[in-house]
Amino acid sequence: MALFIVFLLFLVQTYGVSGCYTSIFSFGDSLADTGNYAYAEETKRSYDNFPYGETFFHQPTGRCSDGRLVIDFIAQALGLSLMPPYLGHSNKDFGQGVNFAVVGATALDSAFFEERGVQVMTNYSLGVQLEWFKQLLPSLCVSPSNCNSMLRDSLFLVGEIGGNDYNDPFFQSKSAEEVRLIVPSVIDIISSTITALIDEGAVTLMVPGNLPIGCSSSYLTIFQSQNKNDYDPSTGCITWLNEFSHYHNQLLQNELNRLRELHPHANIIYADYYNVAMELFQYPTRSGFKQDVLGACCGGGGPYNYNLTAKCGYEGSTSCEDPSLYVTWDGVHLTEAAYKWIATGLLKGPCSDGRLVIDFIAKALGLSFIPSYLGHNIQDFKQGVNFAVDGATTLDSAFFKKKGIRVVITNYYLEVQLGWFKQLLPSLCDPPSEPE
Ligand SMILES: *[C@@H]1O[C@H](CO)[C@@H](O)[C@H](O)[C@H]1NC(C)=O
Ligand SMILES: *[C@@H]1O[C@H](CO)[C@@H](O)[C@H](O)[C@H]1NC(C)=O
Repeated sequence: MALFIVFLLFLVQTYGVSGCYTSIFSFGDSLADTGNYAYAEETKRSYDNFPYGETFFHQPTGRCSDGRLVIDFIAQALGLSLMPPYLGHSNKDFGQGVNFAVVGATALDSAFFEERGVQVMTNYSLGVQLEWFKQLLPSLCVSPSNCNSMLRDSLFLVGEIGGNDYNDPFFQSKSAEEVRLIVPSVIDIISSTITALIDEGAVTLMVPGNLPIGCSSSYLTIFQSQNKNDYDPSTGCITWLNEFSHYHNQLLQNELNRLRELHPHANIIYADYYNVAMELFQYPTRSGFKQDVLGACCGGGGPYNYNLTAKCGYEGSTSCEDPSLYVTWDGVHLTEAAYKWIATGLLKGPCSDGRLVIDFIAKALGLSFIPSYLGHNIQDFKQGVNFAVDGATTLDSAFFKKKGIRVVITNYYLEVQLGWFKQLLPSLCDPPSEPE
């Protein structure tokens, strides 16, 4: 009688998970912009020039990469068309969603930075993007109930956002202590945006964390240090900068937990960009990238091929032969190959906190939200049960301890979960019939 998640996971791997969401709404910055900034700004930027866009589109599209972004891969995996930017398009283009993300956007309003003497690239902050959405919404659906079902069947991507709230002050010589003080405000605005979207009717929201900035060619160049202790010996990334990203991500996850309790019907997914990218920086060759992974594909020289006076797309910069071997595209943004890897991790693997994949499957099969094993009892498990645990590893925790790896945050590794399943199973189905 019970359809088990073990079986379901097999299904998803075999058949994929398209057709679950009918549209995507996206908010964020250059990690997700598919053309808003390029449309809006009169001053041309490096992103408007070749080799941006060389890989998939064969021309610049306003995306800050050689090709597709995480959001493009998510749209394609869901069987949707690539996301049109909000600016420069009209309602008839928005049948499968719309992208409000803008290159350079901050989570906090530009006034916040003005007051602190920090220049930002654009004033299309998260708050402005939310306003665009609110204004547009009534024209996308004909009646309130129609709007509700449309929003229920939509995937909301809130971020990555916040990166520029730190990049701008860091690159304008503010101290780490000063920048750290901004983090709680950034989390607050992301949180209130999520709340506003849920109030409008959003149900599934994916919220990416920040990438490890200590592995970014731009940060590695600008914060170069003679002190070996500043660098993580296993990756060559700058440890204190990665700790900064980690701090943002930790506060964000705490806040998402709080929001989940406040809005139990919403499906709030944390997308762990940090750890999935860290895997690339730690073990690049395992994923098909070249060993020396910190240098940008496209840039104007220097130890990480990042040169402020000769940025990718401008004179004096050159581009690598094969971007698919590189993680970093232009020193700030990643290559299509790296974004594809991240998106695949989110959709198929354990790189979101598990909720996304499970949610897709349950939805595709018309099942109710699958209850977690812990904190529920047998009556709740008629349509299955979810043994996945945030932070769970395949290998047991002792393995990681022995290797001195401290990323393991739970002891409920795969074998423990299998144990739960075995214990539970007899109570879920009729007793095996005795031989006559
Ligand atoms: C944002 O900046 C643009 C110019 O870059 C300006 O035209 C516009 O009025 C500004 N919008 C707001 C809300 O400040
Ligand atoms: C950075 O670019 C400028 C302008 O092209 C060039 O003169 C300089 O040598 C470059 N720096 C490095 C470290 O390659």
